[in-house]
Amino acid sequence: MPANSMEELVSLCKRRGFIFQGSEIYGGLQGFYDYGPLGVELKNNIKAAWWRANVYERDDMEGLDSSIIMHRMVLRHSGHEATFSDPMVDNKKNNKRYRLDHLVKDQKADVIEKVAAGIGEDASNFPAVVAALIKQPAKASEVLKAAGVRDAFSGEVGDWTEPKPFNMMFKTTIGPVADEESYGYLRPETAQGIFTNFKNVVDSTSRRLPFGIAQIGKAFRNEITPRNFIFRVRELEQMEIEFFCVPGTDEDWHQHWLDKRLAWWEAQGIPRSKIEILDVPPEDLAHYSKRTYDLMYDYPTLGHEEIEGIANRSDYDLGSHTKSQSELNLVATVSENNDSIARLTIPHPDTNKPVVPFVIEPSAGVDRALLAVLSEAFTKETLENGNERIVLKFKPHLAPIKVAVIPLARNREEITTVAKAIKTELQGLGLGRVLYEDSGNIGKAYRRHDEVGTPYCVTVDFDTIGQNESGDAALKGTVTVRDRDTLAQERVKISELAGWIREKLR
Ligand code: GAP
Repeated sequence: MPANSMEELVSLCKRRGFIFQGSEIYGGLQGFYDYGPLGVELKNNIKAAWWRANVYERDDMEGLDSSIIMHRMVLRHSGHEATFSDPMVDNKKNNKRYRLDHLVKDQKADVIEKVAAGIGEDASNFPAVVAALIKQPAKASEVLKAAGVRDAFSGEVGDWTEPKPFNMMFKTTIGPVADEESYGYLRPETAQGIFTNFKNVVDSTSRRLPFGIAQIGKAFRNEITPRNFIFRVRELEQMEIEFFCVPGTDEDWHQHWLDKRLAWWEAQGIPRSKIEILDVPPEDLAHYSKRTYDLMYDYPTLGHEEIEGIANRSDYDLGSHTKSQSELNLVATVSENNDSIARLTIPHPDTNKPVVPFVIEPSAGVDRALLAVLSEAFTKETLENGNERIVLKFKPHLAPIKVAVIPLARNREEITTVAKAIKTELQGLGLGRVLYEDSGNIGKAYRRHDEVGTPYCVTVDFDTIGQNESGDAALKGTVTVRDRDTLAQERVKISELAGWIREKLR
């Protein structure tokens, strides 16, 4: 049974060292989280699984790692300076600021009804209610007050300002002089680094259409209301693909990537039945999108929320960043660019004439992926003896620790020497982290490893070294291997253990 609530996950994450609040010892920083010893392993395993499937297992992909701080012209011509904003409202009574849609969504149903009626929309069409509030800011302020919209902080009805756009990009100064000109942006999506390197990748790899570029990296958004643990954060990580194709083939590629991405989520332990596909309505599309499918995973407590967006970005981005725009028959409406020094075209595979390709973009959040994987793995079970256990049933390739090697007696050198040698041998297989576990008794070690999702515990005992007087001499040179999910224990010869584990973790 997956986790029922976000609280259960938050508590487990803190207790077992997956995730901590950022800057915690100074009271914490909202919207920032640190990944602990197990969190970093889980995150690395998710990213490795994504890279394997989307780069190594395909013949039409390249990888990239571009810089986080970008020239302000990149974010101007990408459209982010003008449009990457959320509507916010302030409560004049206590100067608290909220994202308009979040504020209204969190109200009681009767209040939402009153807001909808006040702005002339039906409450069942929530996006239309928000759009109408943004369109009529002066009326929106009155409607929010009259409907009795409460401030979550004070619990009282707020004195609400008109909704205003708030740009979510983080700016930073570059170099020793902090003047009007010397600033850059922390990228709000990894995608822009791919577009600005399009020509470099084509020139250095001789790629022809269709092909894609993949990148995993940090992105930064000054969210007005970061919330729900790592679901909405200000420093996030993305796994993005920009797949470049011949205009006219884009809709087929869009379907191709939708199918591929759904299959990938399933291989990570996210059942297909827990993901809804939202064909984003035209009025909600991002400024660059011709069409977008949002994959909505059923998170505990939150319900269906976006885990990945798969957008058809048409020729908008390369068209926005290229020079000589007027000569290139662009389909998307782009702003004039007199700053770029590069022509972002590629020969059409049939005619050899230069063309600005269309782009399909599967874009997944690492933090949201981790939350979903954790939530699916989380299992509470009642054992035959009536005891309850929490176990994280990760797919083995995602488990933060693959094997724990446990010496039954931690101060008997004959046992610890064998256990340490086994740890070294298994670590050498390159399957991920193998832990030498000599804290606490065996029962506690098993419980701990159930709770962090270690698929196998290998125990070295007195039988292993032939010193169990009432034991079976045939067990000398063998260890006990305990299976996390079935709890079955099997004796395996040390000489065959590496092959056994490799086979099981394949
Ligand atoms: N390049 C396209 C793009 O960035 P997006 O829908 O804004 O599109 C893509 O973001 C993915 O990044 C989302 O599906 C989500 O998984 C993740 N994401 C976006 N904002 C986030 C935030 N504030 N916190 C955590 N993850 C976020």
